[in-house]
Amino acid sequence: MIIEPRMRGFICLTAHPDGCAQNVKNQINYVKSKGAIHGPKKVLVIGASTGFGLASRITAAFGSNAATLGVFFEKEPAPGKTATPGWYNSAAFEQEAHKAGLYAKSINGDAFSNEIKQQTIDLIKADLGQVDLVIYSLASPVRMHPVTGVLHRSVLKPIGNTFTNKTVDFHTGNVTQVSIEPANQEDIDNTVVVMGGEDWAMWTDALKSAGVLAEGVTTIAYSYIGPEVTEAVYRKGTIGRAKDHLEATAFEITDSLQSINGKAFVSVNKALVTQASSAIPVIPLYISLLYKIMKAEGVHEGCIEQMQRLFAERLYMNAPIPTDDKGRIRIDDWEMRDDIQDRVKALWATATTENLSEIGDLAGYKQDFLNLFGFGFDGVDYNGEANEMLQIPSIS
Ligand code: NAD
Ligand code: NA
Repeated sequence: MIIEPRMRGFICLTAHPDGCAQNVKNQINYVKSKGAIHGPKKVLVIGASTGFGLASRITAAFGSNAATLGVFFEKEPAPGKTATPGWYNSAAFEQEAHKAGLYAKSINGDAFSNEIKQQTIDLIKADLGQVDLVIYSLASPVRMHPVTGVLHRSVLKPIGNTFTNKTVDFHTGNVTQVSIEPANQEDIDNTVVVMGGEDWAMWTDALKSAGVLAEGVTTIAYSYIGPEVTEAVYRKGTIGRAKDHLEATAFEITDSLQSINGKAFVSVNKALVTQASSAIPVIPLYISLLYKIMKAEGVHEGCIEQMQRLFAERLYMNAPIPTDDKGRIRIDDWEMRDDIQDRVKALWATATTENLSEIGDLAGYKQDFLNLFGFGFDGVDYNGEANEMLQIPSIS
């Protein structure tokens, strides 16, 4: 069928299989253009279908010829109804990996569940034996706790006081004031249960107990810090508490992997347009100003540039992995440069509906948002019939 974008708030109800494939191919070409990385060989990516997880998978496969097993939670297509973008991304990724002679299989289901963990372990045992890198890149608004059966929902709220600041509706470019009421303790606890480190530790425990982690294994999860303007709603808000927990969990996981010389790290990544970040108030305005400045300075990066740099210049340099004073890998270094942040801060103060398309990169934001769903790519025939029923080779 002919597929057009159908926007509803922070999401798009449709996805384009050919556009998603183009997105994956562009990312593969980028990684190849940067040359070989002496990186991982057998990689498990949890949250492998979009955003940083997909870019990590592509970097591992096409940067260092790694076999990859991807876990994600995507909706498959139905007649007349497209799949979610991560489904088509994964179909395209597997096709390209297989063409290149690389092992690539995927598991679609709830990564928080015991069942999906067990399926993953069984598949590693059957096909790979062990993995030497585990990427943990889940972003989810809910988690069904596998022990209690309770469904926890995360919230994006400040802690302590009502937060009032500017925000933008990136579809219309309208800049308005938004006020967000503070979270209560239950909100905070739920957000930590969903986006904190407990599930990452459960994964690592399960994988280690099953003997599928290689000697010297590395595991990485992703975090964010960001500037003062987003602090109340991000790093000092409910999601920030979850990130504090995730970061603390890295040390516990490293302890638990001592007998196999394994290490857990958190990498602090740059702010980028993804399905997860578009839903956070204030962040889209910050991102559109940040993009403008970083592009002007020639230091703008997308998920794939970030992950390629993470592998090539942090994780696999054949040297100790550089970290900050809290043990975190920093790949948000260019975003957080003083000169960049000073300029964003100055723009923030002046941003209005009238000037945003000029002082900010609203067009770039919208383009990236469309791209998430496979729309807006050169070389794709959006007027032609697309095969919305496209299947993922290892799943169908
Ligand atoms: P994303 O929404 O693009 O990707 C989320 C992935 O998780 C997808 O593969 C999805 O299928 C998978 N997923 C969600 N729920 C699942 C479930 N129950 N079971 C299995 N898979 C599930 O998000 P992203 O922006 O790439 O975020 C990944 C990580 O990076 C998060 O920890 C996020 O906080 C962090 N991060 C994001 C940014 C940013 O600006 N986007 C910046 C720094 C760090
Ligand atoms: Na991801």
